[in-house]
Amino acid sequence: MQSQTREISEQITCFGEGKRYMITTLGCQMNEHDSEVMSAMLENLGYCPTDLPEEADLIIINTCAVRKKPEDKVASMLGKYHSLKDQKKELILAVGGCMTQQEEVALYIKNRFKQVDLVFGTHALPRLPYLIDQARKNKETIIDITEDYSGREELPSKPFSSFHAWVPIIYGCNNFCAYCLVPYVRGRERSRRPEDIISEVRSLAGRNYREITLLGQNVNSYGQDLEADLTFAKLLGDIGRVEGLTRIRFMTSHPKDLSPELIEAVRQEEKVCEHFHLPVQAGSNRILEKMNRRYTREQYLELVKEIKSAIPGVSITSDIIVGFPGETGEDFADTLDLIKNVRFDSAFAFIYSPRKGTRASRMEDNISYNEKEKRLQQLNKVQQRISKEENERLVGKIMEVMVEGPSKSDPGMQTGRLRTNKLVHFKGPSELTGKLALVEITEARTWNLFAELKEVVD
Ligand code: 5AD
Ligand code: SF4
Repeated sequence: MQSQTREISEQITCFGEGKRYMITTLGCQMNEHDSEVMSAMLENLGYCPTDLPEEADLIIINTCAVRKKPEDKVASMLGKYHSLKDQKKELILAVGGCMTQQEEVALYIKNRFKQVDLVFGTHALPRLPYLIDQARKNKETIIDITEDYSGREELPSKPFSSFHAWVPIIYGCNNFCAYCLVPYVRGRERSRRPEDIISEVRSLAGRNYREITLLGQNVNSYGQDLEADLTFAKLLGDIGRVEGLTRIRFMTSHPKDLSPELIEAVRQEEKVCEHFHLPVQAGSNRILEKMNRRYTREQYLELVKEIKSAIPGVSITSDIIVGFPGETGEDFADTLDLIKNVRFDSAFAFIYSPRKGTRASRMEDNISYNEKEKRLQQLNKVQQRISKEENERLVGKIMEVMVEGPSKSDPGMQTGRLRTNKLVHFKGPSELTGKLALVEITEARTWNLFAELKEVVD
């Protein structure tokens, strides 16, 4: 079946010629990258991009399933696109990604939103041209939520940025944290072959991409499913030797798998940026165990200590869930205490959102939503104070930024990113995008910094 669909895909001609597509991406960086892959495939079919739904002949919503909020957003978007479909009968409306990999959700969308032509899951990416071809020829909604992901690695990608590219190194997740849907919708861990990763990175560097971010739900378990004796730290070393790259980033790190070897690689490799996204999720051992995180608070704190003492100026960011089933006031106090102890540069905090099919969704949850909201606010207040204080330590320093382009909130300003992943706004000419520059930090805020441009490096 699979090779048959691929053969058919290969025969599909440029039916997108003269047509426009729009992709809306919800969720994480892996989804963002999947959208880049979809873009490349659509452009190979002849489609051109547009940002205007009224102009589009094909609209794809690339969905996220980690929490309920992004799911609700999909329903409201589909409601909005309904009228477009009335105006333009040949418009193809497609919903893909993590949310629709779940059979129940895929069927719900098909039945509830009659205007949807195609529903596909995360594994269907290689078959997208074939599926769109089917959708434009059929009246019935096409569904592909099979778990066959063969062909994924050979797909092209078209980075949305002119200087930065996402490079997946491992797909899926084996960890089954009790609250998380990811292992169900993205499957088991599959490391890409190192030679494929290196050749993709070489090709990106050759096309003037200066910064890459190596992606995986858990980059630290890279290589464990491969025959060769390979670790993420070794892979980082090999990628560090690719000529033409300026900066290498990676995310996400699971604390249970972060090795001393990796800390050493980040310390040594000049191009590897000093930033760890190291989600802690909770600060209470009781909750960490219920979450199936497989580390203790003490182990996490020790790891942070090792990272900070090995790599001066390193930034550590985190994800935190508040209101996990059974979280007592004391458990929450442990989380607050941990964030004060670690002093994260920034942290994303979320109210626990029950996800059907996960272990946590079957646990008794007797905390009111109101109480959860209060805890979230309390935590955010503490973390925001810490973020600002950590940023204030940088005022007066000369630091290197990669210029990303005009600031989103003030197009008169340029935005750059520090090696530690913090955003810096400064006055400067707009043609600096993709260049390295030195800036002097003049003001610290909670979410970003302000600076004066000192020198354009290259
Ligand atoms: N509820 C709330 N937050 C969640 N996350 C994952 N699943 C859930 C859930 N069910 C958060 C975790 C993870 C981040 C990507 O999303 O903090 O690190
Ligand atoms: Fe989800 Fe845990 Fe895997 Fe992260 S490590 S994707 S939180 S199951």
